Amino acid sequence: MRHLVLHPSAVLRRRADPVDTIDDGIVSLVEEMFQILEAEQGLGLAAPQVGASKRLFVTDGDEEHGGGKRVFINPKFILIDGLLEASEEGCLSLPNIRGSVRRQPHVIVEALDIDGKSFTLEGSALMARCWQHEMDHLDGVLIIDRMSVIDRIVNRKRLRAMESAGERD
Ligand code: NI
Repeated sequence: MRHLVLHPSAVLRRRADPVDTIDDGIVSLVEEMFQILEAEQGLGLAAPQVGASKRLFVTDGDEEHGGGKRVFINPKFILIDGLLEASEEGCLSLPNIRGSVRRQPHVIVEALDIDGKSFTLEGSALMARCWQHEMDHLDGVLIIDRMSVIDRIVNRKRLRAMESAGERD
């Protein structure tokens, strides 16, 4: 059984590999990711967060804005639009750390579903933010890289404690 991977694990900083074939391994990875996401009551979870360096993420929530229980395999943005908006974000891999991140409010994502079928989906508000956050995970980027300088200072002690705990593992 896979488990949630926390900062400063190296897998969170790697650029994830594309999924070549949606085989049984990918299907069970996705099932386990949904279980972990549900247990953690999160909105989205990317494969590197469970130790799998693969380009896929899952979401669960906010049906209205393109959300719901969905899997995005080899996702890419075909549109990112609108003026940057700042909003507070957290991350399951960075417990107790929150900070303001600026993102664009309107995106269209193209990805494969679990059957290998291509789809495009439009997201706004919370889901547009969620997808950009999850896409960042696939490129090894975390919210601590994107948050404001002030939030970085606010979170500095917690972050240092997490990093030294990680080094002991
Ligand atoms: Ni995250």
